[in-house]
Amino acid sequence: MSRRYLIAGNWKMNKTPSEGHELAAGIGQVVKKEESVEVVVCPTFIALDRVSQAIEGTAVKLGAQNLYPKASGAYTGEISAEMLRAVFAKYVILGHSERREYFSESDSFINEKVKFALENLLHPILCIGETLEQREAGQTLDVVKTQLLGGLGGVSKEALNNVVIAYEPVWAIGTGKTATPEMAQEVHAFIRQLLTEAYDESAAQKVRVLYGGSMKPANAAELLAQEDIDGGLIGGASLEVNSFCDLIEAAKNAP
Ligand code: PGA
Repeated sequence: MSRRYLIAGNWKMNKTPSEGHELAAGIGQVVKKEESVEVVVCPTFIALDRVSQAIEGTAVKLGAQNLYPKASGAYTGEISAEMLRAVFAKYVILGHSERREYFSESDSFINEKVKFALENLLHPILCIGETLEQREAGQTLDVVKTQLLGGLGGVSKEALNNVVIAYEPVWAIGTGKTATPEMAQEVHAFIRQLLTEAYDESAAQKVRVLYGGSMKPANAAELLAQEDIDGGLIGGASLEVNSFCDLIEAAKNAP
């Protein structure tokens, strides 16, 4: 089964709207038309609109870093799915480990967001992954299972088609430490096995499972060569045109 590679940049709390515009325009100059690799950039909320304008007419797509699972109303500081769609966002990162850790987001809250995003025509990028402590205690697969099934509770087989999973070992995020390709592949294959059990083989084969955690041009090729790694969710290396575009190139050349 061939899945289309996806390279997504998670800009986190970086780039002002004008800096974001410049970065996105630079990426847009390289990613002019649809090719074998799908490319997404996820700026901060305040930069979404400018970035959306910068990528208009290119094949770069827009994603957000979060949403609040209510249509509108008295939720100070939050952003709705409708607002994201109004600036032409297609994807939304949900359940990132930084949100789990610093904002105490639980699997059930993340699940609400995943379902809300799907109902509102946004494609969630659901992030899951173990901490160093959990890996050392041999709990990696248990943690991944709880977060995956918890995040996807109540999501139908048809809707699963619009979900992307990102496996991000927390100990590899922003640390320069990467999971070896074999370590990552083991977890990615496990995720696909869980999806097969929860849905079925054909639904599971269609889901893209990205790797995230210090992915950079120097290690991307061997990660992307793994059978169940279908792209990357990139933090640090997504903040410059050259490194991000090198990752897109690596995905184009992946087997
Ligand atoms: P990193 O971040 O590439 O800087 O490790 C990845 C992520 O947190 O999505």
